[in-house]
Amino acid sequence: MYKILRRKQLNDTVVRLDVEAPFIAKKAKAGQFIILRIDERGERMPLTIADTNAEEGSVSIIFQIVGQTTMLLSQMKEGDFLLDFVGPLGAATEFGDIKKACVIGGGVGNAIAYPSAKALFNMGVDVDVIAGFRSKDIVILEDEYKEVCNRLFITTDDGTYGEKGFVTNKLQDLIDAGNNYDLVIAIGPIPMMKFVSKVTEPYNIKTLVSLNPIMIDGTGMCGGCRVTVGGEIKFACVDGPDFDGHQVDYDELMKRNSTYREFEAHDRENCRM
Ligand code: FES
Repeated sequence: MYKILRRKQLNDTVVRLDVEAPFIAKKAKAGQFIILRIDERGERMPLTIADTNAEEGSVSIIFQIVGQTTMLLSQMKEGDFLLDFVGPLGAATEFGDIKKACVIGGGVGNAIAYPSAKALFNMGVDVDVIAGFRSKDIVILEDEYKEVCNRLFITTDDGTYGEKGFVTNKLQDLIDAGNNYDLVIAIGPIPMMKFVSKVTEPYNIKTLVSLNPIMIDGTGMCGGCRVTVGGEIKFACVDGPDFDGHQVDYDELMKRNSTYREFEAHDRENCRM
């Protein structure tokens, strides 16, 4: 059993939980994920590790309420226990030998982009972060980002906070201004990752995206998380979740991910708690 040490509501639909899991806290690297189960009736849910504290033995997860399990998880309190919390799973992000990077997060994807920015910054890399949101009321992790990057740019689609526009506009501006990035990391909605990759492709900038297909076992056995990258089938849970953004078949991923959307909406309305 895994104890919830802290719970924080980051915005109306996004929650952070710090969970006591000392083994994972010691071993986890940026880009890896855990699979949790709330109780014996619960589904297995993969979540990327947002942060770790090896001293305290805690692992932070940040999630958006989209279906029954995330709804139930959001209702858990400090001192409650999760039945399973397995990890670290997946391959750690391979940053390579780089000097200047731009880390881009979209919406709740910023929870996954944050550990990459932190790891790069701690490696001595010059890090720009572009954090994009729909509007001011859903901005998360602003203070945390400030600690782990050289420059932070916040964009909102409606202009209610930071700069008005999309992360792709800001990235193009930064490239046009002469920023020579060795690496761009983009994590967020699939269309965002697709269009960031389209921006970087003509400049040949190495671009990593973190894919979030449907996962079941998380160990490469079920095939549920298969994605097509460079014309080859890959399993995101063991070959990823990070992949070359210029090689991913985003349209296929979008189609597969929308399969259960109606069921999620139904579950959210009829949550069993
Ligand atoms: Fe089953 Fe990846 S989740 S193969």
